[in-house]
Amino acid sequence: MPIDVLVGLQWGDEGKGKIVDVLAPTYDAVARFQGGPNAGHTLTFGGQKHVLHQVPSGIFHPHIINVVGNGVVLDPVVFRQELQKLTDKGVEWGQNLYISKKAQLILPSHRALDRISEEARGNTKIGSTLKGIGPTYSDKIGRVGLRVGHILLPDFQERYQEAVAHHASIAAHYHKELEIKEFEDEFFSAVDFLRTLQLTDTEYLLNDLLAQGKRILAEGAQGSLLDIDFGTYPYVTSSSTIAAGACTGLGVAPRHIDKVYGITKAYCTRVGSGPFPTELTNEVGEQIRQAGREFGSTTGRPRRTGWIDLPALRYAIMLNGVTELHLMKADVLDGFAEIQACTHYRTPSGEHTPNLPDPGQLEAVVPEYQTIPGWQTDLTQLTSATQLPLALQEYLSFLEEELQVPIRIVSVGPDRVSTLFR
Ligand code: IMP
Repeated sequence: MPIDVLVGLQWGDEGKGKIVDVLAPTYDAVARFQGGPNAGHTLTFGGQKHVLHQVPSGIFHPHIINVVGNGVVLDPVVFRQELQKLTDKGVEWGQNLYISKKAQLILPSHRALDRISEEARGNTKIGSTLKGIGPTYSDKIGRVGLRVGHILLPDFQERYQEAVAHHASIAAHYHKELEIKEFEDEFFSAVDFLRTLQLTDTEYLLNDLLAQGKRILAEGAQGSLLDIDFGTYPYVTSSSTIAAGACTGLGVAPRHIDKVYGITKAYCTRVGSGPFPTELTNEVGEQIRQAGREFGSTTGRPRRTGWIDLPALRYAIMLNGVTELHLMKADVLDGFAEIQACTHYRTPSGEHTPNLPDPGQLEAVVPEYQTIPGWQTDLTQLTSATQLPLALQEYLSFLEEELQVPIRIVSVGPDRVSTLFR
């Protein structure tokens, strides 16, 4: 039986959490394979909104196994807070949540270093969420990181002190001191709590499930254009956000991967710095921001907004091998008489291209748009894809033609029920 992968095709915040929640009942397990507390996956049902950062989005379904994979960077403090919130809401997660012993631990000193190195970047700030993501992945690659499994060893304290000493020397390089004392008690008490959870070799757990014919959904975080290799480097996150990351981030072989769900908004947003060719810095952008409530679910920052970018989507679809598209937040465009879709870029050398040049060169391209008639209908009331207005159906056909992938889901509101299957 296969593992299906769900990934964001833009710069994150596409609505991945909602779709995982909707699709979860057809799976036996949901597994996070990269990222950490920088993610904010929002799920809405029963009149309540829930934001998950590190806990997989299948947690609300009691029969589903939820796995935090080895590719994740885990902040025990944030994790305990999230789980406490779930307990307060009456969600029973104790039996069906597993954490990889190979996931990396985010320490208070990683968070401090994130802030120090971001400040040092001056005008080239990444716009990081400051959750310690970059420094923790740096330690992983530098082979000096602490893993979740280390908290079970008798010398964890020594290893922690060594890591902090290393981080202090990096801070000194920036002429700064690590200011972490006030966070350490909370960290160690969260580590004590983490020890009580099901810490295991989740690659065995997942491969055993596959061998038993169970179905697994791999839940991506951030988006393809934030990928460490293929995103708009250096304005990216520090992990492999594309579908291939599910293999290394969970320990499952590529041959097990079947469907790849590509999640995109009907328009585009970005948080943090970096190129964004279709960005709208005018009142239209503001209208999208307000209608789409485009404020970060992790940081509360206003998101940058713009029109849908087809060259960027084509690139992301190629990298991920997307087999079906899910178009999110279509209702946000309900009020527009006309909408725009960027179909091509004009490059500085005058080339007219449907493809993304080096994503690092995106600042220099000029988007070329096709104007699409708006549907000007309240989509939020619809209950079936057969009720979609003709103008939107034509828009969907146009996107499918341009992107060469079928659009299977159209989302018309935050709630689980506002999900129309085509
Ligand atoms: P970091 O991952 O916190 O280091 O942030 C690096 C860049 O990725 C910044 O531009 C962040 O705004 C962006 N980013 C990280 N996580 C997310 C996310 O879950 N959604 C949207 N943007 C994100």
